[in-house]
Amino acid sequence: MIIAIDGPAASGKGTLAKKLAAHFSLPLLDTGLLYRATARALLSAGAPLNDAAHATRAAQSLDIAKIDEHDLRGAAMGEAASVVAAIPSVRAALIDAQRRFANQPGGAVLDGRDIGTVIAPHANLKIFVTASPEVRADRRYKEALGRGEEVEYDVILADIRKRDERDSGRSAAPLKIAEDAVLLDTSAMSIEDVLAAAIRLVEAKSAAAKPPG
Ligand code: DC
Repeated sequence: MIIAIDGPAASGKGTLAKKLAAHFSLPLLDTGLLYRATARALLSAGAPLNDAAHATRAAQSLDIAKIDEHDLRGAAMGEAASVVAAIPSVRAALIDAQRRFANQPGGAVLDGRDIGTVIAPHANLKIFVTASPEVRADRRYKEALGRGEEVEYDVILADIRKRDERDSGRSAAPLKIAEDAVLLDTSAMSIEDVLAAAIRLVEAKSAAAKPPG
């Protein structure tokens, strides 16, 4: 089964994807890492993030099975990733590898922004995970405080709104809900509730796919 999980920054889609993949023993691809690794290549070469030719070469040379996650997870790299992800030739360079991952025998879970719309429009199940910008900012704020970082809620909220706007407003594969996606608004849900709801969706799809009898 191919499971596509899309949604905005800090919606909880990554956590859900990881737990769902573990629950059903499916391989997982966090596609945000591909854009983050592309952005890192530019930053470490001192190149501007809007250098399309350099960004495209960096994306083409990525091996999705061997992404070094060091330095990739923070908010600053997420913001940089959002800039390179708006370059059409960067997205084009990453499509085939993502599609091969999605179509591997036995299925896979992929999370990102365009999985249900572009990478795997034929996915068996598409979940669009969202939450209000305030709830997402609050989650990020508490995570950062937990790591002992000095942060301001208003700054995090402004960053989230800016990233939503860029990811949804770009012309190449913008973040949007696939017509046949199930919307999961996690604003008032715990991660356990979100996982339980997603497991029910997968099980309902599997049951519907089985021949009667
Ligand atoms: O999911 P994330 O926060 O790791 O993603 C970082 C950025 O990468 C995000 O702001 C937009 C971009 N991205 C994308 O355009 N398409 C994807 N499938 C995944 C991420």
